[in-house]
Amino acid sequence: MARAQGCPFDPPPRLKELQEQTRLTRVRLWDGSTPWLVTRYADQRALMADPRMSSDVTRPGYPSPAARVEGGGSSVSFILMDDPEHARLRRMVTAPFTVRRVRAMRPRIQAIVDQLIDDLLAGPKPVDLVEAFALPVPSLVICELLGVPYSDHDFFQNHSKVIIKRTSTQEERMAALGELAAYLHRLLGDKLAEPTDDLLSGLAERVRAGELAHEDAARMGVLLLIAGHETTANMIALGTAALLEHPDQLALLRDADDPAVIDSAVEELLRYLHITHNGRRRVALDDIEFAGQVIRAGDGVVFPNDIANRDPEAFPDPDRLDLRRDARHHVAFGFGVHQCLGQPLARLELSVVYGTLYRRIPTLRLATELHSVPFKHDGSVYGVYELPVTW
Ligand code: HEM
Repeated sequence: MARAQGCPFDPPPRLKELQEQTRLTRVRLWDGSTPWLVTRYADQRALMADPRMSSDVTRPGYPSPAARVEGGGSSVSFILMDDPEHARLRRMVTAPFTVRRVRAMRPRIQAIVDQLIDDLLAGPKPVDLVEAFALPVPSLVICELLGVPYSDHDFFQNHSKVIIKRTSTQEERMAALGELAAYLHRLLGDKLAEPTDDLLSGLAERVRAGELAHEDAARMGVLLLIAGHETTANMIALGTAALLEHPDQLALLRDADDPAVIDSAVEELLRYLHITHNGRRRVALDDIEFAGQVIRAGDGVVFPNDIANRDPEAFPDPDRLDLRRDARHHVAFGFGVHQCLGQPLARLELSVVYGTLYRRIPTLRLATELHSVPFKHDGSVYGVYELPVTW
């Protein structure tokens, strides 16, 4: 469901009505299928944690956001698989994303952010914050972590744009996925021949040990590369747009001395903006009695997490951006076994960015009207295509 045209930061008003009226309802998708829609926060958490809910995109009944090409599902690796295979593959890449390992990356992330802000300040204005800052920060970070050459960023950024754009045809999406997988396949071959100290070399080692097929390692690389930069980049640009529209909140963040204030702002912006607005999607493996209804085995279920993050039962006065509230229990990173693997990294990147950008450029402002900003209504990750800013 598209976001509200009125306030570009709010979920569609129809979702709000449904949340007020009913716990479980049928909706019609683009292909005529009628999966269940779960809108309330507590219900979403209960069902997303239920092992009878499958993420296996190849199962009949899976509520796909677009037409699917045979064999396409596995191209994006374990995010669209069930346990035990999901858990087996996920475990292979968990270590670099633990809170402790990620924390050690703070100085390097701070240096990347500082350098990009130096470049911004030395360059012309107005400037597109997406191109000059929001995309490079997470791209540089994930490239270093994976061991992908940043000089290839035009290639992988353009391909991931095609993959997550809702209006791409399935042929375009599959072609882009295939080219990215081939690229990662080659890179893994290089790491097999000459290992370096990075995540892809770790996967190459698994391939050498016979624990992982070369193709599966390449698909995991694609998943991490796309998930690792698209999401955070959108949170940086959209978060900046939202803060510039809420100057009192921006001032709070800019003047904060306590790192806990910045961390709390990160959680609230994740809750309020909820960029993965297509919702989580699952298919029932078994009959499930829920909210006075029966979700039958094979029924699709859609969880629009954006509206759960605006549920007044979980977040009082939910449509207000309030950086001081405790929002850490939001579902912006999903819930259950597929909960975001990269969340410690995303949190750290956002905390460095939000804690640095507005302090170093205190007069930062939009160089256009908010209504002229091109919002990503057609993307599976919400955000802005461009954010012209000046100072
Ligand atoms: C603000 C930034 C981010 C947001 C809002 C976000 C959101 C999400 C959400 C909602 C899911 C759950 C998918 C589902 O249940 O079907 C997810 C999964 C995932 N995310 Fe993130 N993500 C972010 C950043 C990252 C980063 C930086 C990485 C690093 C590589 C990453 C890697 C992943 C992976 C690998 C999964 C799949 C986990 C699984 O299936 O077990 N994400 N993310």
